[in-house]
Amino acid sequence: MEIWKPKSRVHGLKSIPIGRPIDTLTGGALTELITEFYGPPSSGKSNISILATVNAVKSGFRVAFIDPEGSFHLGRVEQVSGDHFEKVLENVSLLEPESLEHQTQIIRSVIGRDYRLIVVDPITYHYRLELDRANPEQANIELGKQLAMLSWHARKKNAAVVVTNQIYSDFKGGYEPLAREVMGYNAKVRVELNVVGQYRTAKLVKHISRQTGKIVRFTITSSGIE
Ligand SMILES: Nc1ncnc2c1ncn2[C@@H]1O[C@H](COP(=O)(O)OP(=O)(O)OP(=O)(O)O)[C@@H](O)[C@H]1O
Ligand SMILES: [Mg+2]
Repeated sequence: MEIWKPKSRVHGLKSIPIGRPIDTLTGGALTELITEFYGPPSSGKSNISILATVNAVKSGFRVAFIDPEGSFHLGRVEQVSGDHFEKVLENVSLLEPESLEHQTQIIRSVIGRDYRLIVVDPITYHYRLELDRANPEQANIELGKQLAMLSWHARKKNAAVVVTNQIYSDFKGGYEPLAREVMGYNAKVRVELNVVGQYRTAKLVKHISRQTGKIVRFTITSSGIE
């Protein structure tokens, strides 16, 4: 059995910046845990995923970007990378799961490696499809396995993990993130995104060391978010 001394986890890196408004809210994408961003279409989930990736590479780290729906658009990545675009292409492993089970295999293949950031955008893409056609219990077990592996990697490698999540409308006219229980348990920092008129908002729903409930406003710009 491997025993870790708390001191062995102190490597200097505490978080990966995403962009000022989100960093003010969460402290960036923290290492050693899973940060989840959930929200409706166009609320900024993929922008946040790409920004975390580019900033991690700028800090000299390698990134695994797990992309079930093609959200790692090179045009947008180039826009936010500026002069670092080549370096981003060299230091990002792009992986495209074709099913929920394939996503488990992909996550198994990246954990324990030298990735200081793993992104899954959105982690519930295939989960949602599975729910429609198969046993929901099995889909929850599979997603739980993936999150447990990601969480292990975060702690073992002092890495940040950013996952995004889709939402569904509840019967009261509001919305809920998918896989409420399994995501709610495994994500230690959770942020709810929203589109309000011409602005977007981010609300801190869960955090390990900050009071929750705070809301910040942000806009998406050509170079990132502000
Ligand atoms: N250069 C830019 N300037 C301003 N806004 C931009 C720019 N590039 C992208 N956007 C905006 O980003 C938004 C899309 O955000 P993003 O793809 O992060 O959303 P998402 O939450 O991932 O959505 P989905 O659930 O559909 O994947 C669009 O409204 C688009 O107009
Ligand atoms: Mg997206």
